Amino acid sequence: MLSNQAGDGKRSSLHGHWSSRMAFVLAVTGSAVGLGNIWKFPYIAGQNGGGAFVLVYLACVVLIGMPVMMSEILIGRRGRRNPVRTMQILGEEEGGSRRWGWVGGMGVIAGIFILSYYSVIAGWTLAYIVKSVSGVFVGATAEVVGAEFENYVGDWRKVGLTHTIFMALSVYVVARGVERGLEQAVRFMVPALLVLMLVLLVYSINSGYFGQGVAFMFTPDFEKLTQDSVLAALGQAFFTLSIGMGAIMAYGAYLPEETSITGASAAVVAADTAIAILAGLAIFPLVFANGLTPADGPGLVFNTLPMAFGQMQGGVFLSTIFFVLLSFAAWTSAIGLMEPAVAWIVERFNKTRAQATVMIGLLIWLLGFGTVLSFNKLSETRFLAGTIFNNVDYLTSNIMLPLGGLLIVWFAGWVMCRNSTSDELGNTGKIFKVWHLAARFLAPVGILFVLLNAVGLIEWIRDRLA
Ligand code: PHE
Repeated sequence: MLSNQAGDGKRSSLHGHWSSRMAFVLAVTGSAVGLGNIWKFPYIAGQNGGGAFVLVYLACVVLIGMPVMMSEILIGRRGRRNPVRTMQILGEEEGGSRRWGWVGGMGVIAGIFILSYYSVIAGWTLAYIVKSVSGVFVGATAEVVGAEFENYVGDWRKVGLTHTIFMALSVYVVARGVERGLEQAVRFMVPALLVLMLVLLVYSINSGYFGQGVAFMFTPDFEKLTQDSVLAALGQAFFTLSIGMGAIMAYGAYLPEETSITGASAAVVAADTAIAILAGLAIFPLVFANGLTPADGPGLVFNTLPMAFGQMQGGVFLSTIFFVLLSFAAWTSAIGLMEPAVAWIVERFNKTRAQATVMIGLLIWLLGFGTVLSFNKLSETRFLAGTIFNNVDYLTSNIMLPLGGLLIVWFAGWVMCRNSTSDELGNTGKIFKVWHLAARFLAPVGILFVLLNAVGLIEWIRDRLA
């Protein structure tokens, strides 16, 4: 243990450090802003009835997501190792048990599973860059755009190819290390994405259906809110913030000592939520304007946005830029999904970063074919929650991330001693107190309640008591 302590008694990371506070915020924002905001949020909100779901999602982001994110960063920075090792070290130091390492292990597995489908959808965005350039969407009707989507997704070879290209790109950046390239990409991508979402927003405001879109998104109808929708909202909050699986912990390991964890977390949460809400505001009016249904599923953005671009001046250009940016956003998230597994292999098995990345990349690439086939050859094959894609998505977002988040926030709130956490948060004043209360009570109770509710336990208990 002593060998990895720096002179001042603090550990330092084996993989280098972020060059500045800004670099860290950009990297975490890059990991958070991705397909989750623009592809997933609108269709999940659509499938769960809109307004009430959005409200629960926002509550989960602020009340649960924020304290969990702060916990993850502080644990990462204190441990300064891959999530598995970090949790083992701190588990031993703070709670007398190495077993906490399993929390990191679950994160490694969750990241691998999530990327296996994430890469397939990111591949769709790559294909849509080419389609945009080709001009097929110019003046296209809902039917034409829909058929284009069906033709592409229905052919497993095409989807397999774009999935392969995206995985190769991800392996390439992760193998080069955390800093180079990534910072530059995010610095440009997030603001550009915001600007394009605003362009789309102006278009949807003029579509004549803006009011209907806003009403769908913000008028809560609690009748539509099932126990499973509440779980989906919690899962989406975790997914979109990249928390609960060690990605943020791994990034925190490279964070310089003096950076404010609270400030960084708040900036990331704000940027991520703003982009998701903008995406919803841009997409739902178009859904209604074109006679589509919000519950259409994973194809929603691919069926609405190309049509909007097809009707705009300079649409070919804007559409191309949009899908390029979305691919970039997915790329910077894929890096976060791989980082825990790669850092673990490097440290645990003494591999080079390149070797570790190729190994993990190949595994994820293979698993990804389960999702590739979920939209064509195996689209009718049903397991527990539907297709292979549905199952992997449900297992990771709705179960593994909330469970990981629960254990992480529990560890930070109850197992770590107050001195360690207040030392990392650099603050013994109000902010620390609020975080500590949230980490001890609000977040764990909230997560537990939603999880137990979804398996019907709360109802069961209520029935017994009645
Ligand atoms: N937050 C990313 C998105 O919204 C997905 C992600 C999850 C990335 C977990 C890293 C870790 O697209």
